[in-house]
Amino acid sequence: MTPSESQHVLVTGGSGFIGSHLVDHLLDLGHRVDVVDDLSTGRLSNLETALADHPQRLRFVRSDLSEWLVGAGADLRFDAIYHLAAAVGVKLVVDDPISTIETNIVQTSAILDYVRSHGTPLFIASTSEVYGKSDSIPFHEESDITFGPTSRSRWSYACSKAIDEYLGLAHAKRYGTPLVIARFFNTVGPRQLGKYGMVLPSFVHAALSGRTIQVYGDGEQSRCFCDVRDIVPILPRLLAEEQCHGRVFNLGNDQSITINDLARLVCDTLGSKSEIEKIPYEEAYAPGFEDLVARVPDLSRVREVLDFVPSHPLVQTIQDLAQVADIRDDHS
Ligand SMILES: NC(=O)c1ccc[n+]([C@@H]2O[C@H](COP(=O)([O-])OP(=O)(O)OC[C@H]3O[C@@H](n4cnc5c(N)ncnc54)[C@H](O)[C@@H]3O)[C@@H](O)[C@H]2O)c1
Repeated sequence: MTPSESQHVLVTGGSGFIGSHLVDHLLDLGHRVDVVDDLSTGRLSNLETALADHPQRLRFVRSDLSEWLVGAGADLRFDAIYHLAAAVGVKLVVDDPISTIETNIVQTSAILDYVRSHGTPLFIASTSEVYGKSDSIPFHEESDITFGPTSRSRWSYACSKAIDEYLGLAHAKRYGTPLVIARFFNTVGPRQLGKYGMVLPSFVHAALSGRTIQVYGDGEQSRCFCDVRDIVPILPRLLAEEQCHGRVFNLGNDQSITINDLARLVCDTLGSKSEIEKIPYEEAYAPGFEDLVARVPDLSRVREVLDFVPSHPLVQTIQDLAQVADIRDDHS
């Protein structure tokens, strides 16, 4: 099936930040979309406009995914499934590693069992965190990965997502499941919240409200930020390409910026007079918190298959994020 043929698709975690943008895009393509989300970090307001504009083509179910799959019935069929439901965000992960590990592994295992019996093409959202503390920049999909010790709960998110990848690839190999895995690097844009530890919305929120911008560590660590609106159109295209099935792809921007420069860019873009303050990691997260100096994707693999060039400049993303009124309620 090509991405332009009308489909009935399922988006798990579809009321979250990335999921809701994907829902908008799939509706724009003319598809019928079901969303299953337990609203643990997602918000129904992310789908408000889509639900009002497409009452016949968008259905929202509030449920834990694995529980919903048990009751969904064997007859329920989809042309494609996008699995984004997960426990996400450094703060959430450090604060509650048990639910992070259980959510990420249990939900992915459940959706893989479902597609195994239905043969549905499946997209799985993974993360650049799976590269762990590797310093072999840029990160290539076949690079080695290095995690910190299990006593540091921060790595539980990376490990749980790596297990998801192993599970997915094993299903693809053993059962021929047509699936694609993408490792998202820092993805940003409207609707993202800072309260789970996401840096850009936290900075924008602080700058808008005139509060001090808190930079963790020395601020010289760098990241690559990609606008969510550059990411979501690629997902149906990857899933539609048979040559992509059973493979992992980096997805993000390869232009990096230090966190200090990001803080200054947010202030300059929004005309904010907020102060910028450095906070040690152990104060921000937990004693012994480990961070990476740099994280840059090698995009050659995805570019062998698709013409992927992010087009939203970071300044525009910052402006659009600031336009979203509810960022003022984001108590980050
Ligand atoms: N935002 C990023 O920069 C980034 C980077 C790398 C990977 N990712 C991955 O992208 C995906 C989406 O992330 P996001 O940034 O939109 O986060 P998000 O928290 O906004 O979205 C996750 C969604 O999953 C839902 N959810 C969680 N557990 C569930 C369950 N048991 N059943 C049903 N729904 C459940 C949440 O309510 C939320 O709506 C995740 O898989 C995440 O690991 C995101």
